[in-house]
Amino acid sequence: MKKIIITVDGAAASGKEKISRYISKKLKFKHLDSGILYRQLAFIFLKNKIDIKNINEIKNKMMNINKISFRKTKKIRTQEISKIASKIAVYNYVRTYINKLQHSFVKNNKKYKGFVIDGRDIGSVVFKKADLKLYIEVKSEIRAKRRYKQLIDSGEKSIYPQILKDIKLRDNKDKSRKHSPLVVPIDAHIIDNNGTFRNTTKQLNKLIFNIKKR
Ligand code: C5P
Repeated sequence: MKKIIITVDGAAASGKEKISRYISKKLKFKHLDSGILYRQLAFIFLKNKIDIKNINEIKNKMMNINKISFRKTKKIRTQEISKIASKIAVYNYVRTYINKLQHSFVKNNKKYKGFVIDGRDIGSVVFKKADLKLYIEVKSEIRAKRRYKQLIDSGEKSIYPQILKDIKLRDNKDKSRKHSPLVVPIDAHIIDNNGTFRNTTKQLNKLIFNIKKR
């Protein structure tokens, strides 16, 4: 049976995860946050003191990794890991490796008929033939405010202007990189997530209605 794929792309802290979790719960689909994979890899490089400017060092290390965790642990949610993840995400070698992990995840999770996958390039590159593509839009100031609150709530020290600066920097890196930059996929529906979550779910419900009937 062909698996149903819903892709959710958007910039840092745009609410992709909350939206993806909402949809996967409604449809009983499996959720995959592809950012976790970039973050887990970033964590491995940090722990092993890999020079991330050196692609050969990265390749050597990656050849000896036998498993990447798909778990969103607290240690990978830090600002330091966010920065390293966006730096290693520029390498095609890294992206190809992570894209394969995503395809295997879908193939191997046999008990699910559908998947919600979020990231930056899911609808534009990784799952180009997805059944439904979403692109989440939120102003950078609102994203920074939400991320600031998230970090404070989780007990991390945080300064709003610094968060805003980091978000803009990551946006710039994600949008301007050569391989798989963050773009609005051609056939994507734009979701305005600037307002309340209720407002967002109204937009989502209309779109997932047809999928629900399948
Ligand atoms: O989504 P999250 O903030 O957890 O992603 C961490 C970093 O991984 C992003 O800043 C981005 O550079 C990179 N990433 C990516 N493509 C994806 C998911 C994440 O380039 N599909």
